[in-house]
Amino acid sequence: MTAVEKTSPAQKWRWLIALIITAAGVLALIYWSPQGLYLWLKAFHIISVIAWMAGMLYLPRLFVYHCDAEPGSKQSETFKLMERRLLTVIINPAMTATWIFGLWLAYDSEFYREHWLQAKFVLVILLSALHGQMVRWFRDFQNDRNKRPAKFYRVMNELPAVLMVLIVLLVVLKPF
Ligand code: HEM
Repeated sequence: MTAVEKTSPAQKWRWLIALIITAAGVLALIYWSPQGLYLWLKAFHIISVIAWMAGMLYLPRLFVYHCDAEPGSKQSETFKLMERRLLTVIINPAMTATWIFGLWLAYDSEFYREHWLQAKFVLVILLSALHGQMVRWFRDFQNDRNKRPAKFYRVMNELPAVLMVLIVLLVVLKPF
């Protein structure tokens, strides 16, 4: 598949199958409810968070380099492919998994009543909005219509890191 093509039907099927397998796994865990389930959920929550954050830090860095590539050039097409793979294979599924495991932990532990988690929730919504914004910038690059300079994406590259530091401090220190 070349970089200029849109999401293929095969990719959509793969995405659907991954979703069905995840949903089946979640239902099996609810039904089975093994001892120590909470710690398993937390482990998978942290694994998903790591994958999400790795992608959220790498994608704007790719945008920075992509700004210097001539639209239509081989280099630009390679960046498009890298960005699409990163977004569809890592970032989007990792965000979905982070939310599923995070909400499950919040419900199971009843931490949702506590202020640190409410504050964390606001920050995670901001992080998710930034994710949505990155999808818009991604589409601009895919359609060769990006007008923003590399400096813009350099600054945007810092935002997920700042939000991640605040979120981790809140969840580990539980200050209020
Ligand atoms: C999507 C919404 C999210 C919800 C509802 C949520 C909720 C939770 C809950 C309830 C816990 C368990 C806390 C405990 O047992 O002490 C937890 C653990 C954790 N979360 Fe999240 N979380 C979310 C997203 C995130 C994000 C985006 C990050 C990082 C950027 C993150 C990082 C962590 C870490 C590092 C832990 C382990 C803390 C520890 O064991 O001390 N979470 N989360």
